[in-house]
Amino acid sequence: MNETIEVLIGEEEISRRVKEIGAQITKDYAGKAVTLLGTLKGGVIFLADLAREIKLDVFMEFIKVSSYGNESESAGKVKLEYPEKADLAGKHIIIVEDIVDMGYTASWLCNYLHGLNPASVKLCALLNKPERRKVKGVEIEYLGFTIPDEFVVGYGLDYAQKYRCLPYVGKLRME
Ligand code: PRP
Repeated sequence: MNETIEVLIGEEEISRRVKEIGAQITKDYAGKAVTLLGTLKGGVIFLADLAREIKLDVFMEFIKVSSYGNESESAGKVKLEYPEKADLAGKHIIIVEDIVDMGYTASWLCNYLHGLNPASVKLCALLNKPERRKVKGVEIEYLGFTIPDEFVVGYGLDYAQKYRCLPYVGKLRME
């Protein structure tokens, strides 16, 4: 099967939006240090660009969770893979996600982090696919783009681990 990719959000559009989000965070957290908590692996590219647009003291941490079960069972079980114990007490945490899809990951992360006594927790996501949401009440404080229910790759997002390093977000088609 042939894989083709059609650009959905171009490099310049992403860059513009990342700058805007960075400026907004800089304003909202003025006088504070922020800890960007990137979700491995998808959130890494977005985090790297966003971090450099925030004109504050920025700390970087990473977390990896895995989901199991599938959509038809709507199991949505999430398991922490890394790190075993995160020391985030007292920190202003901004979770940096590539995409909020069904919402299981973001919802689990918010609950988990609240248990670690941080100063605050907010969610920042490059992409949101509201049509696919299974979990209610996931609040995305900083959002790049809302997209339709298409399989997207690039700028951190993969298909079978490929395409994460594309500078744009594109729709993957199998022909
Ligand atoms: C993707 C993405 C989000 C999550 C969103 O991660 O990075 O973390 O799924 O899905 P949800 O809203 O339905 O929970 P994935 O598990 O594919 O790992 P990856 O980031 O390493 O590609």
